[in-house]
Amino acid sequence: MKLLIIGATGLVGRHVLDLALADPRVTAIIAPTRRALTSHPKLTSTMIDFEQLSAEQSCWNVDAVICTLGTTIKSAGSKAAFKRVDHDYPLMVARLAHQHGASSYILNSALGANPTSKVFYNQIKGEVEQNLQTIGFDSLTFVQPGLIGGKRDDFRFGERILAIALTLTQPLLPKRWRISPASNIAQALLDSAVESKPGCHRIRSAQLAN
Ligand SMILES: NC(=O)c1ccc[n+]([C@@H]2O[C@H](COP(=O)([O-])OP(=O)(O)OC[C@H]3O[C@@H](n4cnc5c(N)ncnc54)[C@H](OP(=O)(O)O)[C@@H]3O)[C@@H](O)[C@H]2O)c1
Repeated sequence: MKLLIIGATGLVGRHVLDLALADPRVTAIIAPTRRALTSHPKLTSTMIDFEQLSAEQSCWNVDAVICTLGTTIKSAGSKAAFKRVDHDYPLMVARLAHQHGASSYILNSALGANPTSKVFYNQIKGEVEQNLQTIGFDSLTFVQPGLIGGKRDDFRFGERILAIALTLTQPLLPKRWRISPASNIAQALLDSAVESKPGCHRIRSAQLAN
Protein backbone atom coordinates (compact mmCIF):
# COMPACT_ATOMS: atom_id res chain seq x y z
CA MET A 1 0.00 0.00 0.00
CA LYS A 2 1.06 3.56 -0.72
CA LEU A 3 0.64 5.77 2.35
CA LEU A 4 0.59 9.54 2.87
CA ILE A 5 1.56 10.67 6.39
CA ILE A 6 0.71 14.23 7.36
CA GLY A 7 2.49 15.46 10.51
CA ALA A 8 5.36 12.94 10.34
CA THR A 9 7.71 15.11 12.45
CA GLY A 10 5.33 15.16 15.46
CA LEU A 11 5.29 12.86 18.49
CA VAL A 12 2.72 10.44 17.08
CA GLY A 13 3.72 11.07 13.45
CA ARG A 14 7.33 10.01 14.10
CA HIS A 15 6.10 6.71 15.57
CA VAL A 16 3.78 6.16 12.59
CA LEU A 17 6.63 6.82 10.16
CA ASP A 18 9.01 4.41 11.94
CA LEU A 19 6.36 1.67 12.08
CA ALA A 20 5.38 2.18 8.44
CA LEU A 21 9.01 2.10 7.25
CA ALA A 22 9.46 -1.27 9.01
CA ASP A 23 6.10 -2.71 7.87
CA PRO A 24 6.19 -4.85 4.69
CA ARG A 25 2.47 -4.15 4.14
CA VAL A 26 3.45 -0.56 3.28
CA THR A 27 5.41 -0.36 0.04
CA ALA A 28 5.81 3.40 -0.29
CA ILE A 29 5.44 6.38 2.04
CA ILE A 30 5.01 10.03 1.16
CA ALA A 31 5.61 12.39 4.07
CA PRO A 32 5.47 16.10 3.28
CA THR A 33 6.79 18.13 6.22
CA ARG A 34 8.24 21.55 7.02
CA ARG A 35 11.31 19.97 8.73
CA ALA A 36 13.60 17.53 6.91
CA LEU A 37 13.29 13.80 7.58
CA THR A 38 16.05 11.19 7.45
CA SER A 39 16.10 9.60 4.01
CA HIS A 40 14.99 5.99 3.46
CA PRO A 41 14.47 3.99 0.22
CA LYS A 42 10.72 3.63 0.95
CA LEU A 43 10.23 7.30 1.78
CA THR A 44 9.52 10.30 -0.42
CA SER A 45 9.89 13.37 1.74
CA THR A 46 9.04 16.82 0.43
CA MET A 47 8.61 20.27 1.98
CA ILE A 48 5.02 21.46 2.44
CA ASP A 49 3.30 24.80 3.02
CA PHE A 50 -0.35 24.12 3.78
CA GLU A 51 -1.25 27.64 2.60
CA GLN A 52 0.08 26.77 -0.86
CA LEU A 53 -1.38 23.30 -1.51
CA SER A 54 -1.89 22.40 -5.14
CA ALA A 55 -3.81 19.59 -6.82
CA GLU A 56 -0.77 19.16 -9.11
CA GLN A 57 1.49 17.88 -6.29
CA SER A 58 2.30 14.18 -6.77
CA CYS A 59 1.87 13.45 -3.04
CA TRP A 60 -1.91 13.00 -3.34
CA ASN A 61 -1.69 9.78 -5.38
CA VAL A 62 -1.91 7.32 -2.49
CA ASP A 63 -4.14 4.53 -1.17
CA ALA A 64 -4.51 5.89 2.36
CA VAL A 65 -3.81 9.01 4.42
CA ILE A 66 -2.81 9.11 8.09
CA CYS A 67 -3.12 12.60 9.58
CA THR A 68 -1.34 13.36 12.87
CA LEU A 69 -1.17 17.09 12.24
CA GLY A 70 -1.90 19.42 15.11
CA THR A 71 -0.88 22.43 17.11
CA THR A 72 -1.83 24.13 20.38
CA ILE A 73 -3.66 27.44 20.80
CA LYS A 74 -0.52 28.73 22.53
CA SER A 75 1.81 27.79 19.63
CA ALA A 76 -0.66 28.86 16.97
CA GLY A 77 -1.24 32.23 18.67
CA SER A 78 -5.04 32.32 18.50
CA LYS A 79 -8.11 30.07 18.39
CA ALA A 80 -8.55 30.91 14.69
CA ALA A 81 -4.96 29.91 13.87
CA PHE A 82 -5.39 26.68 15.87
CA LYS A 83 -8.55 25.87 13.92
CA ARG A 84 -6.72 26.48 10.64
CA VAL A 85 -4.17 23.76 11.51
CA ASP A 86 -6.34 21.23 13.36
CA HIS A 87 -9.49 21.56 11.24
CA ASP A 88 -8.87 23.23 7.86
CA TYR A 89 -5.55 21.59 6.89
CA PRO A 90 -6.69 17.97 7.57
CA LEU A 91 -9.80 18.64 5.47
CA MET A 92 -7.86 20.26 2.62
CA VAL A 93 -5.54 17.23 2.49
CA ALA A 94 -8.51 14.86 2.66
CA ARG A 95 -10.26 16.51 -0.31
CA LEU A 96 -7.13 16.49 -2.49
CA ALA A 97 -6.22 12.87 -1.67
CA HIS A 98 -9.82 11.71 -2.23
CA GLN A 99 -9.94 13.50 -5.61
CA HIS A 100 -6.78 11.60 -6.57
CA GLY A 101 -8.18 8.20 -5.59
CA ALA A 102 -7.32 7.65 -1.93
CA SER A 103 -9.95 5.40 -0.38
CA SER A 104 -8.98 5.55 3.31
CA TYR A 105 -8.36 8.37 5.76
CA ILE A 106 -7.29 7.91 9.36
CA LEU A 107 -7.26 10.89 11.70
CA ASN A 108 -5.45 11.21 15.01
CA SER A 109 -8.41 12.88 16.74
CA ALA A 110 -8.96 13.16 20.52
CA LEU A 111 -10.96 11.84 23.44
CA GLY A 112 -14.05 14.06 23.83
CA ALA A 113 -14.24 15.16 20.18
CA ASN A 114 -17.74 16.58 19.80
CA PRO A 115 -18.94 19.35 17.48
CA THR A 116 -21.39 20.60 20.12
CA SER A 117 -18.87 20.60 22.99
CA LYS A 118 -18.50 23.80 25.01
CA VAL A 119 -14.76 23.09 25.17
CA PHE A 120 -13.20 24.76 22.11
CA TYR A 121 -10.55 22.04 21.53
CA ASN A 122 -13.12 19.21 21.66
CA GLN A 123 -15.49 21.20 19.43
CA ILE A 124 -12.83 21.64 16.71
CA LYS A 125 -11.89 17.94 16.86
CA GLY A 126 -15.61 17.06 16.60
CA GLU A 127 -16.10 19.41 13.65
CA VAL A 128 -13.18 17.96 11.70
CA GLU A 129 -14.51 14.42 12.34
CA GLN A 130 -17.99 15.51 11.19
CA ASN A 131 -16.76 17.29 8.05
CA LEU A 132 -14.46 14.42 7.04
CA GLN A 133 -17.53 12.16 6.90
CA THR A 134 -18.96 14.25 4.02
CA ILE A 135 -15.99 13.68 1.68
CA GLY A 136 -16.77 10.14 0.57
CA PHE A 137 -13.92 7.90 1.76
CA ASP A 138 -14.69 4.16 1.65
CA SER A 139 -12.89 3.80 4.98
CA LEU A 140 -12.65 6.47 7.67
CA THR A 141 -11.18 5.96 11.15
CA PHE A 142 -10.93 8.38 14.06
CA VAL A 143 -8.37 7.36 16.66
CA GLN A 144 -9.28 9.17 19.89
CA PRO A 145 -6.43 9.19 22.42
CA GLY A 146 -6.47 10.74 25.88
CA LEU A 147 -3.28 12.51 26.99
CA ILE A 148 -0.54 11.34 24.63
CA GLY A 149 2.47 9.77 26.35
CA GLY A 150 5.97 10.02 24.92
CA LYS A 151 9.06 12.19 24.64
CA ARG A 152 8.39 15.61 23.13
CA ASP A 153 10.82 18.11 21.58
CA ASP A 154 8.95 21.00 23.21
CA PHE A 155 8.00 21.53 26.88
CA ARG A 156 4.25 21.72 27.58
CA PHE A 157 3.76 22.64 31.25
CA GLY A 158 0.07 21.71 31.56
CA GLU A 159 0.52 18.38 29.78
CA ARG A 160 3.58 17.55 31.92
CA ILE A 161 1.66 18.16 35.17
CA LEU A 162 -1.31 16.12 33.90
CA ALA A 163 1.02 13.30 32.83
CA ILE A 164 2.54 13.15 36.34
CA ALA A 165 -0.93 13.10 37.93
CA LEU A 166 -2.19 10.41 35.56
CA THR A 167 0.92 8.27 36.03
CA LEU A 168 0.54 8.38 39.82
CA THR A 169 -3.18 7.50 39.73
CA GLN A 170 -3.06 5.19 36.67
CA PRO A 171 -4.00 1.91 38.44
CA LEU A 172 -7.10 3.54 39.96
CA LEU A 173 -8.33 5.20 36.78
CA PRO A 174 -10.79 3.78 34.26
CA LYS A 175 -8.87 2.83 31.11
CA ARG A 176 -10.39 5.66 29.06
CA TRP A 177 -8.72 8.33 31.26
CA ARG A 178 -5.27 6.74 31.26
CA ILE A 179 -2.31 7.98 29.21
CA SER A 180 -2.36 6.86 25.56
CA PRO A 181 1.26 6.00 24.64
CA ALA A 182 2.24 7.48 21.26
CA SER A 183 3.45 4.04 20.11
CA ASN A 184 0.01 2.47 20.75
CA ILE A 185 -1.74 5.30 18.90
CA ALA A 186 0.66 4.97 15.97
CA GLN A 187 0.08 1.20 15.71
CA ALA A 188 -3.71 1.75 15.74
CA LEU A 189 -3.41 4.41 13.02
CA LEU A 190 -1.21 2.22 10.83
CA ASP A 191 -3.30 -0.94 11.27
CA SER A 192 -6.44 1.03 10.40
CA ALA A 193 -4.79 2.28 7.20
CA VAL A 194 -3.60 -1.16 6.14
CA GLU A 195 -6.90 -2.88 6.97
CA SER A 196 -8.99 -0.05 5.44
CA LYS A 197 -12.25 -1.55 6.74
CA PRO A 198 -15.27 -0.10 4.90
CA GLY A 199 -17.32 2.44 6.87
CA CYS A 200 -16.63 4.92 9.65
CA HIS A 201 -14.86 3.65 12.79
CA ARG A 202 -13.65 5.04 16.11
CA ILE A 203 -10.81 3.68 18.22
CA ARG A 204 -11.35 4.95 21.77
CA SER A 205 -8.82 5.95 24.41
CA ALA A 206 -9.59 2.82 26.46
CA GLN A 207 -8.29 0.70 23.55
CA LEU A 208 -5.08 2.76 23.42
CA ALA A 209 -4.01 2.55 27.08
CA ASN A 210 -1.42 0.05 28.31
N1 LIG B 1 -1.22 16.44 23.31
C1 LIG B 1 -2.06 15.49 23.64
O1 LIG B 1 -1.97 14.88 24.72
C2 LIG B 1 -3.17 15.12 22.69
C3 LIG B 1 -4.23 14.35 23.15
C4 LIG B 1 -5.22 13.91 22.24
C5 LIG B 1 -5.11 14.27 20.91
N2 LIG B 1 -4.09 15.05 20.48
C6 LIG B 1 -4.02 15.35 19.04
O2 LIG B 1 -3.19 14.37 18.43
C7 LIG B 1 -2.59 14.89 17.23
C8 LIG B 1 -1.10 14.54 17.22
O3 LIG B 1 -0.51 15.02 18.41
P1 LIG B 1 1.08 15.10 18.59
O4 LIG B 1 1.31 15.32 20.03
O5 LIG B 1 1.75 13.96 17.90
O6 LIG B 1 1.40 16.46 17.79
P2 LIG B 1 2.80 17.22 17.69
O7 LIG B 1 3.88 16.43 18.31
O8 LIG B 1 2.57 18.60 18.17
O9 LIG B 1 3.05 17.21 16.10
C9 LIG B 1 2.22 17.93 15.25
C10 LIG B 1 2.65 17.79 13.82
O10 LIG B 1 1.92 18.78 13.06
C11 LIG B 1 2.86 19.59 12.34
N3 LIG B 1 2.38 20.96 12.21
C12 LIG B 1 1.79 21.73 13.14
N4 LIG B 1 1.50 22.94 12.64
C13 LIG B 1 1.91 22.93 11.34
C14 LIG B 1 1.88 23.88 10.27
N5 LIG B 1 1.36 25.11 10.42
N6 LIG B 1 2.37 23.53 9.07
C15 LIG B 1 2.92 22.31 8.89
N7 LIG B 1 2.97 21.34 9.86
C16 LIG B 1 2.47 21.67 11.06
C17 LIG B 1 4.14 19.54 13.14
O11 LIG B 1 5.20 19.93 12.33
P3 LIG B 1 6.58 20.53 12.97
O12 LIG B 1 7.32 19.34 13.50
O13 LIG B 1 7.23 21.17 11.81
O14 LIG B 1 6.17 21.48 14.05
C18 LIG B 1 4.14 18.06 13.56
O15 LIG B 1 4.56 17.27 12.49
C19 LIG B 1 -2.89 16.39 17.25
O16 LIG B 1 -3.93 16.66 16.37
C20 LIG B 1 -3.35 16.67 18.69
O17 LIG B 1 -4.30 17.73 18.75
C21 LIG B 1 -3.11 15.47 21.34
